[in-house]
Amino acid sequence: MPLQLLRRPRRNRHTASIRALVQETKFHRENFVQPLFFHAGEGSPEPIDAMPGVLRHTLSSLLEECRTLVDLGMPAVALFPCIEPSEKNPEGTHATDSSNILYRAIEGIKKVSANLMIIADVALDPYTSHGHDGLLTEKGEVDNDSTIEALIRLALLEAEAGADLLAPSDMMDGRIRAIRHALDRASFEDRGIMAYSAKYASAYYTPFREALQSRPGAIPLDKKSYQMDPANTREALLEAKLDEEEGADILLIKPAGLYLDVISSIRKMTLLPLAAYQVSGEYAQICAAARAGWLDYQAARDESLIAIKRAGASIILSYFSAEVLKELNQQKLCSS
Ligand code: PBG
Repeated sequence: MPLQLLRRPRRNRHTASIRALVQETKFHRENFVQPLFFHAGEGSPEPIDAMPGVLRHTLSSLLEECRTLVDLGMPAVALFPCIEPSEKNPEGTHATDSSNILYRAIEGIKKVSANLMIIADVALDPYTSHGHDGLLTEKGEVDNDSTIEALIRLALLEAEAGADLLAPSDMMDGRIRAIRHALDRASFEDRGIMAYSAKYASAYYTPFREALQSRPGAIPLDKKSYQMDPANTREALLEAKLDEEEGADILLIKPAGLYLDVISSIRKMTLLPLAAYQVSGEYAQICAAARAGWLDYQAARDESLIAIKRAGASIILSYFSAEVLKELNQQKLCSS
């Protein structure tokens, strides 16, 4: 005897066709951004231990990779240079040195394709010998205000080389306004700012610091005086509000999967587009569990990404981006 039910939500889940028809969140190629690592060395691209499948590129393999990404329909790349230890110093002066490989990379990618957008990080951590994102005071504290001059010079050089979006990522105060003014004064009013508005002091950046070799010694670097406490949401809303007021074009939340509530709360309070960064540790944990046979790789990967979009981010920076695009192009990506 069937239950007398007027509402049977399972009817809309009965076949693959009805599931596709009622699906609320879908991936589009335009949602994805590929972060890329590269260094000034020659030879073959180097693997990164804790990030299977991710490479530390040479300049020529980076450009080759960008050609492939353009063919896949990737809308944008986020660039992270890995700087030789001999070029690092406490002030991170190599950031604004014209020999910095970053500028050659930006110029080279623009020649590969004028349409592939380049997101350039505006922070000093790849260049400082201590690994912090800013200059240190005599007492060893990370100094908010004195770092801004170097960041402005870095942003202007990145814009001059051809970067489309500048991404201040050091989670310090007053970055967006200062960089916006500097870009406008230099007639770069067409370049956007993607603000790392809510960036948490997360344990999930460790593989990235290995990729950039920006982790001096074995002790994890303590960035809690500028990156946010994982326990806080209201503070993230305040940071997002300030970045919007200061002139940001896009707001970014990072990490992504552990902060879906933050993405969703910021989504409700701003009209700006939102980006989320699925960081190296989020990538590494899916790869590791899949390698151990504990998770299904594709299913776990796709679920982690659709959750980010469902929460409200339309731009997803992920180390999975290229392969997901490949599968979307082949219509293989199964969202059931
Ligand atoms: C620093 C920066 C970090 C990441 C992107 N930009 C690391 C940090 O703050 O120490 C991490 C990204 C990742 O883990 O994938 N400006």
